[in-house]
Amino acid sequence: MEKNHMLEIRHARKDEAAQLGGVAELIFRDTFAPFNTEADMELYCAEAMSAEAFASDLDDPMSEILVAAEDGAIVAYAHIHRGEAPAVAGSAPAIELKRFYLLRGQHGTGLARRLMREVAGRSAALGAATLWLGVWEHNGRAIAFYRKLGFEEVGEQPFLLGTDLQRDLIMTVPLATLLATEH
Ligand SMILES: CC(C)(COP(=O)(O)OP(=O)(O)OC[C@H]1O[C@@H](n2cnc3c(N)ncnc32)[C@H](O)[C@@H]1OP(=O)(O)O)[C@@H](O)C(=O)NCCC(=O)NCCS
Repeated sequence: MEKNHMLEIRHARKDEAAQLGGVAELIFRDTFAPFNTEADMELYCAEAMSAEAFASDLDDPMSEILVAAEDGAIVAYAHIHRGEAPAVAGSAPAIELKRFYLLRGQHGTGLARRLMREVAGRSAALGAATLWLGVWEHNGRAIAFYRKLGFEEVGEQPFLLGTDLQRDLIMTVPLATLLATEH
């Protein structure tokens, strides 16, 4: 794993579930609260961003969570999951990037690219050749970032945020493309 100045990228530890939940909820609210009702945000955060949810993810043998930590404080995380990939992801072994979240202060700093490179390295080590993800169709910044790195839209899937059924784009990229990018 990479270490640069005071910011290191490493696997999350099991005792970091609560900290991860706090950072995840902060980023999720910062990014999506303007577009959703508070009730839907509450419902989703309680289910997916609690310390319990992260404790269970950290225990899941099919999942890995990488964090970027600055002086011990988590400022970004990525969650990869070895599950069933949608047919549109292609026939090569594919791994899902379930979450890729940076605190706002880290946007545009190059950290996202560095973290993605670590994600690609771990995914390749797990035997995958393709990375796939779902991204909300109106998350313009994330879509632009993924495109910049070589991801392409291949389909769509529903995403339930609380009670609101939304449309996610499915994007994929060959790991070889991510591993070839400079950082
Ligand atoms: C998505 C995310 C990881 C991208 O990392 P980042 O450091 O912000 O990405 P970058 O700044 O390198 O690239 C974003 C690009 O989108 C562009 N952009 C910004 N806002 C945009 C918008 N509303 N629509 C389209 N493009 C936009 C930027 O100009 C930049 O392109 P450029 O480098 O050519 O100028 C980060 O913003 C993040 O964590 N966001 C909050 C959580 C999130 O949405 N995660 C993804 C969920 S699937």
